[in-house]
Amino acid sequence: MKNLLEVEDLQTSFSSLSKKIIAVRGVSFQLKAGETLGIVGESGCGKSVMARSLTKLLPSNSASIDTGSIIYRGEDLLLKSERELRKIRGKEIGMIFQDPMTSLNPTMRIGDQIIEGYALHHPRATKEEMEGHALDLLKQVGLSEAAQRLKQYPHELSGGMRQRVMIAIAMISSPNILIADEPTTALDVTIQAQILGLLREIKEKEGMSIILITHDFSIVSGFCDRVIVMYAGEIVESAPVDKLFKSPKHPYTRRLLNSIPRLDLSSKQKLYSIHGSPPDLSRKIKGCAFAARCPHAMHICHNGKPQSHSVSEGHNVSCSLFDPRVKRQEEKKCQYP
Ligand SMILES: Nc1ncnc2c1ncn2[C@@H]1O[C@H](COP(=O)(O)OP(=O)(O)O)[C@@H](O)[C@H]1O
Ligand SMILES: [Mg+2]
Repeated sequence: MKNLLEVEDLQTSFSSLSKKIIAVRGVSFQLKAGETLGIVGESGCGKSVMARSLTKLLPSNSASIDTGSIIYRGEDLLLKSERELRKIRGKEIGMIFQDPMTSLNPTMRIGDQIIEGYALHHPRATKEEMEGHALDLLKQVGLSEAAQRLKQYPHELSGGMRQRVMIAIAMISSPNILIADEPTTALDVTIQAQILGLLREIKEKEGMSIILITHDFSIVSGFCDRVIVMYAGEIVESAPVDKLFKSPKHPYTRRLLNSIPRLDLSSKQKLYSIHGSPPDLSRKIKGCAFAARCPHAMHICHNGKPQSHSVSEGHNVSCSLFDPRVKRQEEKKCQYP
């Protein structure tokens, strides 16, 4: 599979008079054509800021992308003007956000909101064509009484219905990449499953790539091909989904996985919570960002940035426990105390 998106050393920060928060810290990853990539991590670890950085959907007064490149179809999106990016957002890269109530315009009918995006990318389409297309889409995303829904306002729909509308809006221009940022977090479990099923159906039909962002590991297992784990603005581990679940390497990933109930584990298996809190992102982090919470932290972890190590095909981990040189030194220390 070819890479559709290549992100290299991306750093995004927010500046105010008093401090600078570095929310995304040198993130690099690739998204292949047709792939579903999961991005997982605790709340506040930079998932949304990273996703919004991909199409520069950030507050212009405080946010800046300090370093990096985002290569999409051979071109760096970070070098594009706002006008050029507007053509890419929606048409090439669509986004669905966590809370449809704040993403939908409360004063606009559903139909007009769906058509708005389409009109932007298809200026020659007639009103009838656009309405027909919006109606088809609402049926596709499984909304009952679709014709009537077109005339309704967001507050007249339930949370699950609004999320379906958001998906319709994101799908209207058939993007190559769909970024779904916590698309089911605000919904109850049954509706969650329905929305994920719908996304899977759309993906199979349209063949697009999906980036699914979630704090919930249990969602990625049945849905993603590959997973990236983020911590404090950095990628700490990435692997094909099966490998990550069977053999997680980074102590943070292991803790995250141990903190969710799983049917395949015995009922006696202990569930962990992760003690402590993530580091302050306005401070310089000298060593590994997870060191203060890590039960395996060594001297080096507090003082030097861990490098990324390949542990098997497609499975990388940024942790000094997997650095062969560190391992040798630790073994030596044990032999000659
Ligand atoms: N508009 C903003 N201004 C200042 N800081 C922000 C802003 N948006 C996000 N942040 C900070 O960036 C960090 C990452 O946030 P976010 O990407 O939303 O986390 P996640 O999506 O993983 O929960 C957090 O520490 C958050 O406080
Ligand atoms: Mg978020």
